[in-house]
Amino acid sequence: MDSGVWAAPGRVNLIGEHTDYNDGFVLPFALPLRAYVTASVLDSPQWMVSSREEPGDATLTAAELVPGGVEGWARYPAGVVWALRETGYDVPGARLDIHSEVPVGAGLSSSHALECAVLTALCDLGGLDLPLEERPHLVQRAENDFVGAPTGIMDQTASLRCRAGHALFLDCRSMATEHIPFDLAAVDLAILVIDTKAPHRHTDGEYGVRRRTCEEAARILGVPALRDVTVAGLDAALGRLPDEVSRRRVRHVVTENQRVLDTVALLRAGRYGEIGPLLTASHVSMRDDYEITVPEVDTAVSAALDAGAYGARMTGGGFGGCVLALIDAPAAEKVGTAVASAFAEAGFTAPAAFPAVPSGGATRLS
Ligand code: GLA
Repeated sequence: MDSGVWAAPGRVNLIGEHTDYNDGFVLPFALPLRAYVTASVLDSPQWMVSSREEPGDATLTAAELVPGGVEGWARYPAGVVWALRETGYDVPGARLDIHSEVPVGAGLSSSHALECAVLTALCDLGGLDLPLEERPHLVQRAENDFVGAPTGIMDQTASLRCRAGHALFLDCRSMATEHIPFDLAAVDLAILVIDTKAPHRHTDGEYGVRRRTCEEAARILGVPALRDVTVAGLDAALGRLPDEVSRRRVRHVVTENQRVLDTVALLRAGRYGEIGPLLTASHVSMRDDYEITVPEVDTAVSAALDAGAYGARMTGGGFGGCVLALIDAPAAEKVGTAVASAFAEAGFTAPAAFPAVPSGGATRLS
C-alpha cells in the first residue's frame, strides 16, 4: 500500500479525571469529530507534513527528529515518527497532509487525534507490526518525551480503541479494557458537550504540578500509585500526609476512581439516567479538591444543572476547555441557551454546544 486516508477521533471523558497517571480508572468515549491524514509513501527517508488549519508546512529529515528540535503543530506528527524509530520500527518516508475537525485547546484531545491518525497511517503504509494494545504507549512516548507534555495514557487509548455506541472502561494499570454499551439515544438521553472557549494549556505547568504532588503522596504512603488507596482507607491515608493541599489532591483521586467504578456499574445495568449525581460530584471534587476548574466551566456546570441537566462536569485536563452535561435529548437547545445566557451575563466569550454521540476509534478510510 502506497497511499490512503486515515482518521482518528477526539474524545470526551465521561468520568475519571486525573486518574490515569495514578494507575486508576477512566471512562472516555470517542467523538465523531476527527483528525484526517492523507498520506503517501516517499522514496526517501523524510516526512513532509502540512495542515489545512495551521501554517508552517515542514519537511523533516531523520537528523532533525530530536526532542525539542521541532516547533509548532508539526511536533505532533514528528513525535510519532520519532517514537516509532526510537522503538526500532523502520518508518517509511511519507507525505502527510492533515486536516482536523477537533477544536484545538478545547480539552477534546486534538493533539492525540492527530498523533493517532498519523500513527495508524504510518503503521499501515509501512506494514509495521505494532499491536493495537501497544500503540497508546508509543503515542504517549511521543507526547511525553518529544512534545514535552507530561500527559497520561487515556486520550490516545480512547482515540485508538473506542467503539461506536460504547464508552471505554480502561484500567490504566493493567490496560485492560471493556467496551460498555452507551447508547443514550435509545433512552432519549444525550450528552451535551459545551465548549466554554476558555483555552486550556497543559504545558503551563499546573498539570505537571498535580502529577508530581500525586507521585509524592504515593511515595509518602508507601504505595506504587494512588490507585492503591481505597475509599475505605482514605481517612487513614489522609492522616499520614503532611499538608492540606496534598490531602485534597489525594481525596480527589481516590474518590474519583470510586466514582468511575460506580458509573460503570450503573451503565452495565443500563441505568444511564442515574449517573448524573456522580458526574456532578466529580465536578465538585475537581473544583474544590483538585482545583483545576475556572469560572467559565463552573458557570457552565451550574447553568446546565439549573436548566435541568441530570449531572454535569468539566471533562479533560482542566483549567478551561469543555463541560459535558447529561440531559434529556430534546432539552439540548434549552440547556445550550441557558448556558449561553449565563455566559453573556458574566461577560464571558460565547460558548458553543453540541450533542456528542459515542463514535469509533482510529481507522483507515480509503
Ligand atoms: C489530559 C491528559 C490525560 C488525562 C486528562 C485528565 O487530557 O492528556 O492523560 O490525564 O488530562 O484526566
